[in-house]
Amino acid sequence: MPLHEGYELRPAPPSLDEYLELRRIAGLSARTPDQARGALAHSWAFCHIREQQSGHAVAMGRTLGDGGWYFHIADMATDPAHQRRGLGTSVLEWLIAEIDARAPADPYISLLADDAGQPLYRRLGFVPTSSLGMVLRRL
Ligand SMILES: CC(C)(COP(=O)(O)OP(=O)(O)OC[C@H]1O[C@@H](n2cnc3c(N)ncnc32)[C@H](O)[C@@H]1OP(=O)(O)O)[C@@H](O)C(=O)NCCC(=O)NCCS
Repeated sequence: MPLHEGYELRPAPPSLDEYLELRRIAGLSARTPDQARGALAHSWAFCHIREQQSGHAVAMGRTLGDGGWYFHIADMATDPAHQRRGLGTSVLEWLIAEIDARAPADPYISLLADDAGQPLYRRLGFVPTSSLGMVLRRL
């Protein structure tokens, strides 16, 4: 999908403050600056979208990956004021294209799909797996 007019996709992470703020306003769980530093420095691929007029970072997504076959999409988030303009689609298409361009054939590309993202992910070809996603919870 061509990028909506007035926006620019950058193949790099946003700033640390922008990352934390985009997560916050998109309703994702709060993270610390230390956690954000790791995410910004060590993702396999990262992109974000800026509104050209304001210069603000308004959408982002990243890939965790081993560079061989296993890739996990994370941090898909669009500022609510800029949602439903195709920005999330452009981010996800870019992340997938990056895997196709830089990784060996037949990559395994996964993500955990919250309700808000499911239609978008399905539209781009993601399907539910029979495996149950699990998380280590330490109280
Ligand atoms: C999920 C999320 C990243 C999608 O971002 P987005 O920028 O709104 O994504 P898109 O605009 O590409 O697609 C969203 C919808 O807008 C529609 N859309 C795209 N361009 C459009 C346009 N110009 N006019 C109207 N609708 C449009 C898409 O068809 C899509 O519809 P669908 O969900 O029924 O398939 C965003 O909703 C978000 O940040 N949610 C909160 C955080 C979250 O839950 N993240 C995902 C965790 S798994």
